This record gives sequence, C-alpha cells and structure tokens, in this order.
Amino acid sequence: MLSLELSTIKRTEELGKILGKIVEPGDIITLQGPLGAGKTALTQAIGRGLGIDPRIYITSPTFSLLHEYKGRIPLYHMDLYRLSGEEEIVSLGFPEYFSGSGVTVIEWPERLGSHMPAERLEIELVISGEMSRIAKLAGHGSLWQKKVAEIVSMV
Ligand SMILES: Nc1ncnc2c1ncn2[C@@H]1O[C@H](COP(=O)(O)OP(=O)(O)OP(=O)(O)O)[C@@H](O)[C@H]1O
Ligand SMILES: [Mg+2]
Repeated sequence: MLSLELSTIKRTEELGKILGKIVEPGDIITLQGPLGAGKTALTQAIGRGLGIDPRIYITSPTFSLLHEYKGRIPLYHMDLYRLSGEEEIVSLGFPEYFSGSGVTVIEWPERLGSHMPAERLEIELVISGEMSRIAKLAGHGSLWQKKVAEIVSMV
C-alpha cells in the first residue's frame, strides 16, 4: 500500500492526470472515501489525463449511475451510491464495461459486493484537512502492483 499526501487540490489533479496517462483498456480504478473526499475531483483529473475535451465537465453520475466520455480511450465513470442491489449491476451490464475498451472509474465500489473486480487499482481518499487529502493506493493483481510502483516514481 502506498500513501500519498495530497496537500492541495493541485496534488489531487496531478495524481489524476498521471493515472489518466498510464491507464489501458480494461483497467479499473475504485475510489473509496466519504462524501466530499474528492472521488469526483480525482475522476475529473483522470479525464484530463485521458485527453477528454476540457470543455466537457465531468459530473458525478449519481442518478444515472454511469457516464461515458470520449478520450484517448473511453472513460466509464460510475457512481454506485444509489445502487439498489447487486442484481442491478448485472441488469445494467456493468461487468461488460469492466472488460471493455475503456477505463472504468467507480465511486462507492463497496456497493459491488461479490461483483468487485479482482484486478484493480484501489484508491481510498481520507479527508485530512479542509484542503488536504490522503490517498492510499493498493494494487490488486500483479499488473497493478507493478503500476503502483510506476506511479510512485511519477508523483
Ligand atoms: N486536496 C483535495 N483533493 C480533492 N478535493 C479537495 C481537496 N481539497 C479540497 N477539496 C474539495 O473537496 C470536494 C470534493 O468533492 P467531490 O465531489 O470530488 O467528492 P466525492 O468524494 O466525489 O463525494 P461524493 O461521495 O458526494 O460523490 C471538492 O469541493 C474539492 O474542491
Ligand atoms: Mg462524487
């Protein structure tokens, strides 16, 4: 596990941009942390790193659960806060997105239950002050373990 101090939103944006640059099709990033932790803010920066048109504002898909954006590779942004149950995940076809041609970023991944992908980058955001956050990165699967080491050398 790697712990990063995000002392200002600028640091959060830097981390997100790096992630947006290194992700590949089929990659999954799960974002944990309480309301206001910065999960959407980090996703917006991932979008910038993916080269999504900066005029497009990335918002939390709280009611629709999923927003899709066109970047270097597609971004599938999920916010599962209002997910009603595990069956809904399958009926919405989410497992197909996980293995799709884009990168999936998931807010409130706890809601996935047994559908939690084994291979993923897990990021937990901890509120450490009004403007500061701590990001805890854990790579699940050998590929992500390697990539986490790569991220450390970039931030
Ligand atoms: N270092 C920081 N990193 C990220 N966000 C920060 C930081 N400092 C302050 N903030 C602020 O915290 C808020 C984070 O809101 P955001 O919508 O990203 O949270 P969230 O985790 O997605 O919440 P929700 O669970 O409601 O979707 C923003 O207003 C952002 O400006
Ligand atoms: Mg959010």
